[in-house]
Amino acid sequence: MAKIIINADIKRGKINKNIYGHFSEHLGRCIYEGYWVGEDSPIPNTKGIRNDVLEALRQLQIPVLRWPGGCFADEYHWKDGIGPRENRPQMINTHWGGVVENNHFGTHEFMLLCELLGAEPYICGNVGSGTVHEMEQWVEYMTFDGESPMANWRRQNGRDEPWKLTYFGIGNENWGCGGNMRPEYYADEYRRYATYVRNYGNNRIYKIACGPNVADYRWTEVMMREARHMMNGLSLHYYTVPGTWANKGSATEFDQKEWFVTLQKTLYMDELITRHGSIMDFYDPQKRIGLIIDEWGTWYDVEPGTNPGFLYQQNTMRDALVAGINFNIFHKHCQRVQMTNIAQTINVLQAVILTEGEKMIKTPTYHVFDMYKVHQDADAVDLYIESEPYQFEDESIPQVTASASRNAEGQLHISLCNLDPENAAEIDCDLRGMNAVKVGGTILTANAINAHNTFDQPENVRPQAFDEAELKDNRLQVKLPPMSVVVLRVE
Ligand code: AHR
Repeated sequence: MAKIIINADIKRGKINKNIYGHFSEHLGRCIYEGYWVGEDSPIPNTKGIRNDVLEALRQLQIPVLRWPGGCFADEYHWKDGIGPRENRPQMINTHWGGVVENNHFGTHEFMLLCELLGAEPYICGNVGSGTVHEMEQWVEYMTFDGESPMANWRRQNGRDEPWKLTYFGIGNENWGCGGNMRPEYYADEYRRYATYVRNYGNNRIYKIACGPNVADYRWTEVMMREARHMMNGLSLHYYTVPGTWANKGSATEFDQKEWFVTLQKTLYMDELITRHGSIMDFYDPQKRIGLIIDEWGTWYDVEPGTNPGFLYQQNTMRDALVAGINFNIFHKHCQRVQMTNIAQTINVLQAVILTEGEKMIKTPTYHVFDMYKVHQDADAVDLYIESEPYQFEDESIPQVTASASRNAEGQLHISLCNLDPENAAEIDCDLRGMNAVKVGGTILTANAINAHNTFDQPENVRPQAFDEAELKDNRLQVKLPPMSVVVLRVE
């Protein structure tokens, strides 16, 4: 039996809604086919952006969307992506399949997408192969209100008003695909580029520095020591890869050992945030600087027969658990973690949506985003958990992970993940600091570890009402089926 104590009246920080952010790169079929089909497509669209995807993503209330990369960002030259589409130059997307990029989806199209989704744009600028001047002009183009060469050019291209742009990344993975820099060198480059990323009019930019790769604590140390006064956020990238980079493992053909290892590696996110966070605490005890986990998710071998550079993978109940576990961890660290962006929204890595021609399906990960959205901007509340172990061979991880928050109306939401694919979890939950009268909930579960949705069976894994929670005298007794994600609403 797992024991949980929730102190519903003790707040542990606000869960920034941006924790439910997304990342969409010019990679494989994420932007093209995923969002962008063009105005002349037979697929119903709004100014070139497909309507089925818009509708599905609106339901998730995506707060923020990162673009154009990823590795692509440090090769992207924004001026190629504005003006009449037929005149836009082509380029080679060297990172992702070597395909020709026609630049039909550029700044105006991205800003329109954000407007249609009700999401804030988070743009990543080019440090690796771009100039300071180019970055400075991009910000001027997007945000300057008065008469200026860039603002006038924007008007010529059909947009009078400047856009509101808050989140701007100064390079991506500059320790790797973004220029292979040392942290000392990047810290100086960051300071130089950041100087010219201006606040025009009332627009205030939240500048995000490239942060560490996984457990590169030295990178965090150097960046915090040398550049903290010029940053608002520091990023962190961590992917859950069950195998090795050379042999990552299949998205759908796996055994319980791979299931276990995948969830075990996902739990490592907690240690990464704690350790990078403690370096940040040393330099920034007030937690002014946000930890921005702007790439996370599972990374498997691509689906057989698909372009290896397109990173297209299926998505199963295992991915749903990965999402639920990560969100519970992000909630725990919500004082430091101010934004996260799953990689990537459509057709790439741990996607929430898959498309095939005019067809579209929602993945198990989509449903976790939908179920967990109740936590957006709510107050995380104190939660103590003592879980039974989920033992596999000679290793063990907790069987249950959990988090809880209270929204402005006083409702309490409790998120629970049962990591064990074979055994149910009994939970005794002591609710303190509120007078609970009613409980309801939603569950996502399956009867096979690799259960997933296909274009023929799109509803194979889908949320259902959950009635295995009983409330009596401010105590909840919950029975979580094996491999399940549950969100309870307590009033
Ligand atoms: O998300 C795919 C790639 O992973 C991104 O382009 C890069 O930043 C990371 O290595």
